[in-house]
Amino acid sequence: MPLTSGLKGQRVLVTAASRGIGFAAARAFVEEGARVVLNGSNQTRLDAAVKDLRSLGDVQGVVADLTQHSELDRLVADTRTLLGGIDTLVYNTGSPAPGTFMEQSFETWQAAANLLTVSPAYLAQRVADLMLTSHTRGRMVFSASIAIREPIPTIATSNVCRIAIAGLVRTLARELGPNGIRVNGVLPGYIATERVDHVFEDAARRRGTTSDQVRSALTREIPLGRIGSPEELARAFIFLGSDMSSYVTGALLPVDGGFLRSVG
Ligand SMILES: NC(=O)c1ccc[n+]([C@@H]2O[C@H](COP(=O)([O-])OP(=O)(O)OC[C@H]3O[C@@H](n4cnc5c(N)ncnc54)[C@H](OP(=O)(O)O)[C@@H]3O)[C@@H](O)[C@H]2O)c1
Repeated sequence: MPLTSGLKGQRVLVTAASRGIGFAAARAFVEEGARVVLNGSNQTRLDAAVKDLRSLGDVQGVVADLTQHSELDRLVADTRTLLGGIDTLVYNTGSPAPGTFMEQSFETWQAAANLLTVSPAYLAQRVADLMLTSHTRGRMVFSASIAIREPIPTIATSNVCRIAIAGLVRTLARELGPNGIRVNGVLPGYIATERVDHVFEDAARRRGTTSDQVRSALTREIPLGRIGSPEELARAFIFLGSDMSSYVTGALLPVDGGFLRSVG
């Protein structure tokens, strides 16, 4: 039997999808024939993203700030109105402020915890409610970072707060598995987006070097010898967000060109 995603007509919500990783994920689902709602916090950028994808299929946008719980409620309610339900949630988000551990203020820690821990848990609960009440055997895919396995020195808040995604994925996989809802995570390595350019620029400033030199040094640490593309990462979202992964739940899949060295 040929391997197909079976995503045609499936209802998919992709958060933080107006640029970068989220946009590539949304595009991949549209290309598979899914009906997709994209989210972002900025109306103009979201409108541009929706316009870019419209010729490819069924795409709509819902503006909501993922850090505000009332907006998460509205995001799920609006998606339900637009699509009639959710078969797949792809949770991507914005980035916390860069900096080392000792540079962070209490307010920065709180903001990062809200963005990277509280917000995905709250949205997962709302989407699970919807899937359970509509008897949908759905899937959730949470994007985190390789930083949860090997901390990155200049993104301390991400190292600390994103680990919660691993707990969220494992907890939900156990709790929702009996209802046929699968929950998995993706750990992106270095992926070519605006965000990663800023990370390299920040590292270059700290080391008194150039961002090209930072990029070259880092690339030497990646066994496949290059930064990944958002499109390569998007294939992992398609796999985990469709029935291609029908017997996979509670997994965290690194997509990093082999960067992580640890076993397990
Ligand atoms: N690129 C990498 O190598 C890499 C590796 C590991 C992890 N990550 C993480 O993966 C995530 C996406 O990274 P990226 O490189 O694609 O970043 P990006 O290019 O900066 O895109 C971020 C996206 O998040 C949206 N966003 C930001 N804050 C939001 C909010 N409060 N509510 C709703 N949407 C929001 C942005 O849209 P608006 O501007 O419209 O809000 C944009 O669509 C980030 O959390 C990043 O830290 C990235």
